[in-house]
Amino acid sequence: MMEGAKGAEWSERMRAVAVLGAGGKMGSGIAWVALKAMAESDAKENGVPGSGRYDLVLIDANPESFRRLRGYLRTQLVKVAEKGIGDLRAWAKDRADLIENGEIIDAYVDGAMSMVRCEGDVTGAKGAKVVFEAVFEDLALKKELYSRLKALCAEDTFFLTNTSSIPISLLDQSAGLGGRILGFHFYNPPAVQKLVEMISGRQTRPELTALGRDLGKAFGKITVPAHDVAGFIGNGHFIRELLFAFGRFREMRAGAGATAGLKGPEALVTLNKATQDYLIRPMGLFQLLDYVGLDVFQMILKVMREHLDAKAADGVVFVDPTLDALLAAGVRGGQLGSGEQKDGLFKYERNRIAGVLDIDAITDGADGADGAEGGQGTKGAGIRYVSLGDDRFRAILDDTGAGTLGAFPVGHAPWSNLAKDPARKEKLAAYLAKLAESDAAGAVLARRFLARSRAIGATLVATGVADTHEDVSKVLMNGFFHLYGPADWTH
Ligand code: 3HC
Repeated sequence: MMEGAKGAEWSERMRAVAVLGAGGKMGSGIAWVALKAMAESDAKENGVPGSGRYDLVLIDANPESFRRLRGYLRTQLVKVAEKGIGDLRAWAKDRADLIENGEIIDAYVDGAMSMVRCEGDVTGAKGAKVVFEAVFEDLALKKELYSRLKALCAEDTFFLTNTSSIPISLLDQSAGLGGRILGFHFYNPPAVQKLVEMISGRQTRPELTALGRDLGKAFGKITVPAHDVAGFIGNGHFIRELLFAFGRFREMRAGAGATAGLKGPEALVTLNKATQDYLIRPMGLFQLLDYVGLDVFQMILKVMREHLDAKAADGVVFVDPTLDALLAAGVRGGQLGSGEQKDGLFKYERNRIAGVLDIDAITDGADGADGAEGGQGTKGAGIRYVSLGDDRFRAILDDTGAGTLGAFPVGHAPWSNLAKDPARKEKLAAYLAKLAESDAAGAVLARRFLARSRAIGATLVATGVADTHEDVSKVLMNGFFHLYGPADWTH
């Protein structure tokens, strides 16, 4: 259960909350985080939630999403209620009618669900004191929405946008919000990721920034301040790293570098494995791209291209010819409402990688040097996958040390083991030292990514996007589940 409430301001405001775009992947997670905090406050004050003093309006233009959304919220409520039955029992101690655990859990879940109203139009946000916005990453859409909200909502309503890249000052100015907007960027999935990246625009009111910090605490999150530069810290790093990965992909196919001359599917599998296993991350970079969605990546890239060209001190060009070709052919990734992973660069079975895209059939001709203009892909070209069980991947996936990527450096352990290990800091430092010395092809490749990540972190600090290297590490470790930060690579 969450830490005790801090300050009267957040708990007063949390009595009337709206979430815009609540049917989407991020919006539904934000709705859950808000509902959890509201239900807990209500239970502390009134024994069980559902006193009628808390109101959560979930707004989405697609009403078909509401059934799934309600189902998701109820499932999460049951899960936390069962885990936190001790707290629930203490809060409900004056309710003589609630004796059995099952009765208390049912009262908690039903009471919390009674706070939730689903609405198909933004007018539903009228009485809200705090509005979380998580609609599609499109400036024109957000501008229109905020103009309507400004007209609808009371003058003291605050807006917390989940934009992943659009400058907050721009949103503020475009709708004339007078500093009533704060960047409050959750990471996917919001229910699980500890990070909220907090971005004040030029005019953001200090009391709103303070409220953001308190809300972060009440939600059990770690807030990290980022400055108002498109992409902020998280996508400032993630997008550059993915562009680097696509650059290495083209390099491999063109026959340069340590692992040269591979066919496209082999190159995808190699890079994904190197960035997962040798970097000890929960997912390889290309799987993470599927998780986020290629179309989302493209939207963020576009925003960064439009707003960063003059500021991208490291000379990065925010465009990628392979990505363009993949999207033109209809490769998307992303997830279904149920959380099931959709096919993208990889084919998934029960959320596990089962096959890899026959990417050469789509992107031949998009093989220019980094950032160079490439082919447009073949519109409507058949999307085909090759099974990962195919012989051609056996040597790449071989973990015995006899495969093409070579042996893991001494001290290697899977991410899932190290993530739970209290001594992981020391173990990772020892592992990275061994990685620095290894001649194995996987280690050589991993070092290029580590050097790139470190350079990106340095750029983010040097250009004032992040205050410190520690903030960059906090973002990557709490928003992406990394076990160490870019500056920990000192070799
Ligand atoms: N809602 C609630 N709980 C969820 C959830 C969701 N949407 N997704 C996962 N969980 C919970 C599961 O229920 C499970 O809980 P339990 O331990 O109590 O049983 C726990 O999380 C772990 O889930 P799984 O057992 O299903 O484990 P997985 O192996 O599938 O791992 C993951 C889940 C750790 C989230 C993994 O998928 C992962 O690391 N993904 C990458 C996350 C990441 O890097 N996100 C950042 C993306 S970038 C971004 O968001 C910025 C944007 O602007 C682009």
